[in-house]
Amino acid sequence: MDKRELVAKAIEGRSLAYTPYSKFKVGAAILLKNGTYITGCNIENVSYGLSNCAERTTLFKMVSSGYTKEDVLAMAVVADTASPVSPCGACRQVMAELLHKDTLVLLANLNYDIKETSVEELLPYGFEEIENAD
Ligand code: THU
Repeated sequence: MDKRELVAKAIEGRSLAYTPYSKFKVGAAILLKNGTYITGCNIENVSYGLSNCAERTTLFKMVSSGYTKEDVLAMAVVADTASPVSPCGACRQVMAELLHKDTLVLLANLNYDIKETSVEELLPYGFEEIENAD
């Protein structure tokens, strides 16, 4: 697997970020086992809390394109940060839902500084099941 290529796709995704409020552009890419790349970006809203992060855009694109965690080889996230960007808590929870725990996640910046991690490492002891629900 070409890690730089996956980060390059995340940078490509980032180029479409819609960020009139924060001006902070984030991109993400998922590489599927069949070689397909799915890219995404953050999309903001004037009602700030409705903004969607690049990671979730990309994961929702994956699911709505008919793919599941079984199809995924790796995911990358990139932003213009001094060190590799760190996903927010909400996105970590969505990654935990839609990816395998051991899926490779590449965190990166525009200089191609890459931190290799996994879903499990990003969200240890995450919320997993609804128990005792009526
Ligand atoms: N953002 C992401 O897209 N991903 C992250 O991991 C962190 C934050 C977005 C949300 C908002 O559009 C902007 O970055 C500033 O918080």
